[in-house]
Amino acid sequence: MPHRSPHLFSDLIDRVPITVNCHFLGVPLEHVDHFRPSSRIVQIASHEDMPDLVEHFYRVYGYVQDLVTGVRPVVPGGLIEQFRAGRDRAEPALDDAELTGIFFGSLLGADQNIVSVLTKSLYTLLAALALWRRLAEEPEIAPRLAEELIRLIPLGTISAFPRIAGRDLETSVGLVPEGSVLYPDPFAANRGPEVFPDPLVIDPDRQSAKRHLQFGYGMHHCMGAALARMEIVTVLTRLAKEFPTLALAVEPADVPWDIGTVLRRPTSLPVTW
Ligand code: HEM
Repeated sequence: MPHRSPHLFSDLIDRVPITVNCHFLGVPLEHVDHFRPSSRIVQIASHEDMPDLVEHFYRVYGYVQDLVTGVRPVVPGGLIEQFRAGRDRAEPALDDAELTGIFFGSLLGADQNIVSVLTKSLYTLLAALALWRRLAEEPEIAPRLAEELIRLIPLGTISAFPRIAGRDLETSVGLVPEGSVLYPDPFAANRGPEVFPDPLVIDPDRQSAKRHLQFGYGMHHCMGAALARMEIVTVLTRLAKEFPTLALAVEPADVPWDIGTVLRRPTSLPVTW
């Protein structure tokens, strides 16, 4: 008789990144219920609901500003306290707005971004059980398997930030004049067959896996890529070790999804083992 667990998402995936994030930044865990509903709305709101998105954006921003300016307490030893203490060592010194911007990005990125990609990674592996079983038998493939999942799983419907061409660019589709606003498309780049032969195959033996652009590129490359990789690899490895017979309890097509701008992922993963 298989055990049933309707709670893989709510008890595990939804809790790990926020707990790690609070610990890492020095955000008191008891604040989570205050800011997380708003940070969730910021990432799930549709483009048709801008007023709601903007309102909750400023609520989270205000909360982070309170942490940076000392209006609210932080946990000693966390990154926020360390940055506050070291702000004058930067050249020029970091002001409150810069610190708030950095930690606003971190508070959102290291929560729902990881939750989103982790949930979709597990959904994918449980819908393609041969890969799950291989991971259980060969845990050493976890970093390469995670990289393939990260390459192929878009965060949401948006991707890298827009860029402004700093000079004229000759491209395969013509000239991009200096000053043009460019919207790079990592979704297409991560499926380019010249770089990733058989691009839609999740192949943990692929040599070029790390050349994807899921974390962006250049000076605005994702600040938390290493943390995201570490958490995704750790959770996948540990789950496959403890539950090698894990399987979806429903057909993959019957799993319910949130369809947000950034937050686009299954809302629950009913499983058996
Ligand atoms: C799988 C999870 C994640 C994905 C797919 C992701 C993706 C991205 C992307 C595409 C960008 C824009 C990069 C560009 O335009 O070149 C970005 C920027 C950023 N990410 Fe992440 N991210 C993830 C997790 C995180 C985490 C864990 C953190 C915080 C610790 C974080 C913090 C940031 C910040 C602060 C930026 C802005 C960097 C800048 O403008 O200089 N992200 N991320």
